[in-house]
Amino acid sequence: MLASGTGTILEALISADLPIAVVVVDRPCRAIAVAEAAAVPVELVQRESFGPDFDRLAYTERVVDALKRHEIDLVAMAGFMTILEHPIHDAYGGRITNTHPSLLPAFKGAHAVEDAFAAGVKVTGCTVHVATLDLDNGPILAQEAVPVLPDDTAETLHERVKEVERRLYPQVLHELVEDAW
Ligand code: GRF
Repeated sequence: MLASGTGTILEALISADLPIAVVVVDRPCRAIAVAEAAAVPVELVQRESFGPDFDRLAYTERVVDALKRHEIDLVAMAGFMTILEHPIHDAYGGRITNTHPSLLPAFKGAHAVEDAFAAGVKVTGCTVHVATLDLDNGPILAQEAVPVLPDDTAETLHERVKEVERRLYPQVLHELVEDAW
């Protein structure tokens, strides 16, 4: 499991009794406390740079090394905010999933909810997909629509989308785990 943020999706995966071998985070964040509270091992693979000198390839290799210290069948990303390079796909290709807060292929990228809100769409949603090197463009596993309400801000909209992600992502992962994907 890869996370960077508040870890509410991680909490949903833990509550859904998914077998989580390790949580890898790229920065100090609430997801660490969430994992620790559930006695799930945590690997902080600290990203040292957010600037042009960031060595994405070397960083990806550190993430793969951390994952390899555990027995992993599937890598589930939830709000992991570092784009990873080919080594993770070489190691776990086709077995990496992500949840994205828009109806892909609309609104790819790190600001999906803000972009959908700014575009004035009346319906957005979330997508669970297989992560590939082609960012936010891998095979779609599940999607669900979420309405944009008249009083929404980008924040209230994101929270409504995340409520659906917290239900949909565990469901999809359960199906994959049960199919011994
Ligand atoms: C989710 O909306 C996910 O799709 C996006 O980041 C959010 C993570 O939420 N990429 P949280 O940190 O698990 O609360």
